[in-house]
Amino acid sequence: MKAVTIHTLNNFKAAQEKFPVITAYDSAFSRQIELAEIEVVLVGDSLGNVVLGYESTVPVTMSDMLHHTAAVARGNNKSLIIADMPFMSYSNRAMTLDNAALLMQVGAQMVKVEGGAWLEESVFMLAERGIPVCGHLGLTPQSVNKLGGYKVQGRDAEAAQQIFNDAEILQSAGADLLVLECVPSELTARIAQHLTIPVIGIGAGPDADAQVLVLYDMLGFSPRIPKFTKNFLAETGNVQEALQAYARAVRNGEFPQPEHCFS
Ligand code: KIV
Repeated sequence: MKAVTIHTLNNFKAAQEKFPVITAYDSAFSRQIELAEIEVVLVGDSLGNVVLGYESTVPVTMSDMLHHTAAVARGNNKSLIIADMPFMSYSNRAMTLDNAALLMQVGAQMVKVEGGAWLEESVFMLAERGIPVCGHLGLTPQSVNKLGGYKVQGRDAEAAQQIFNDAEILQSAGADLLVLECVPSELTARIAQHLTIPVIGIGAGPDADAQVLVLYDMLGFSPRIPKFTKNFLAETGNVQEALQAYARAVRNGEFPQPEHCFS
């Protein structure tokens, strides 16, 4: 695999070729992901749930994200590395710029932020200064206390339209990628067709341009395995083969299946 850039991902979208994305939090797994030729690694703030033992992503700090992003970057020279900006690290202009810069300086090649129209100015500001941005809509775990739990989003027409409008706003502001989490498959299909940037789904149906899974979920390590994931280690028996099976299943359109989706 050649080093992946945003052009690589845009070319996949133009060619209607699906690509796999996976989370990682350390250098050892990051190296395995590079070996498996998975194009994109997300240093997700799911770090809080799956590695650090928190109940949510809310306690994850900038210093946690810097430490783990640097480790992931040391293990992988080929995959594109996206780092999550943690809870409250992008709540005003100065913090957004400073914290995004710190993540880029330890090895991220893009930052991810959760939220819709309120992020328009931040996305624009980062993009103008040369920092690629991935948006995140639908179930946004940093807002779990406001959402009242981990629930499928965009189920009624008004909520779906809101997510659609937010997606348009983020793209117009300069976002390069968009994650849609736990939304009905029909909404993902509408958004992926409408946007020119690649849309990455998780619990968002088969019609996203790419799929992302939390590494520890797809290896069966997490205490609670969400409906939208699949344990690829169970059917392969070793980590490298599990990663390769996941990548193949995404590229062939064999993952996700209807049982991993919401309608
Ligand atoms: O933190 C994370 O791992 C994420 C993915 C679930 C998309 O944001």
